[in-house]
Amino acid sequence: MKALITGVNGFVGRHLEQFLLSNDYEVWGSSRSDLDVEENWLNRIQLDFNNVDKLTSVINDLKPDYVFHLAAQSSVKKSWDNIELTLNSNVINSAKLFEAIMRSEIVGNCKVLSVGSSEEYGILPQESMPIKEESNLNPINPYGISKVSQYMLTKLYAKLGLQIVHVRPFNHIGPGQDLGFVVSDFSNQIAKIEANKINPIMNVGNLSAKRDFLDVRDIIRAYVDIISSGISGEVYNICSSKPVAISDLLDTLVSLSSQNIEVKIDPKLLRVVDIPQYVGDNSKIRRLISWQPNISLEETLRDTLDYWRRKGN
Ligand code: GDD
Repeated sequence: MKALITGVNGFVGRHLEQFLLSNDYEVWGSSRSDLDVEENWLNRIQLDFNNVDKLTSVINDLKPDYVFHLAAQSSVKKSWDNIELTLNSNVINSAKLFEAIMRSEIVGNCKVLSVGSSEEYGILPQESMPIKEESNLNPINPYGISKVSQYMLTKLYAKLGLQIVHVRPFNHIGPGQDLGFVVSDFSNQIAKIEANKINPIMNVGNLSAKRDFLDVRDIIRAYVDIISSGISGEVYNICSSKPVAISDLLDTLVSLSSQNIEVKIDPKLLRVVDIPQYVGDNSKIRRLISWQPNISLEETLRDTLDYWRRKGN
């Protein structure tokens, strides 16, 4: 089987590539920069999202069985700073990719996975928890709006004959994730304390919120099963369905270190709007595929902390 991953160099793309390679897929990845294409020994191609004809000819040459469309502007914060870039990357580029596959010779033989986000649901009342796929879409930032638009495109292209499914992953965590996400922010500080680079005081934000966390390695296993078994035009939540309080997550991380660590709430890390509880319902994918999360929260936290210890900054 041949797979093309757009956005292969991101946090999720790198894990997906490793998983597919270790399962004997031929993997190609699209990258934004020329440098990656030239220097990386792995199969890399460039996709020119400005030109549907060129995209179609790359697809015709490569003939992937699966296209995992991960390329995106995926930061909520950046989506406020640069709305145009966010809509271009997530909506226009997705439309062009779907159109190029539609026009290609392999349209009947290629399956596409469109990666959306739990941000598509936005703010929902407590009684809507856990969130099902048919819940209202009420995005509250340009990123969420771009992912709802991408979802609408998948429905349209499915009607036109493209074999495409859309997924809505909830909070991803794991080794390799950038700073700016709670587990990386906490682990990075613990690793710095252990290396005597900062005083043994952790600055944290809101600890009372609850989120639905999954290890990125469990998420990408779901992607691989959903792309092959999903029903075209359908949308699937990918989540644990178990709410975890940020305070519990912090306690576990601190307990994985032998240091005496003081925790301080930093008002600068508190958000103007912070959804108190965000948890998804995963019954739809569990009816579709025999998937369940394999990696416990403690194992993920341990691996992420080890990643930051090794990174050493
Ligand atoms: N980032 C961060 N850093 N969050 C903190 C911290 C901290 O030091 N301390 C407490 N928190 C709290 C946040 O206020 C929030 O309630 C919770 O931890 C989770 O924060 P994030 O990890 O930043 O994730 P998020 O829930 O805001 O959503 C992000 O992940 C989603 C799923 O992957 C967003 O990037 C969404 O776009 C994405 O869908």
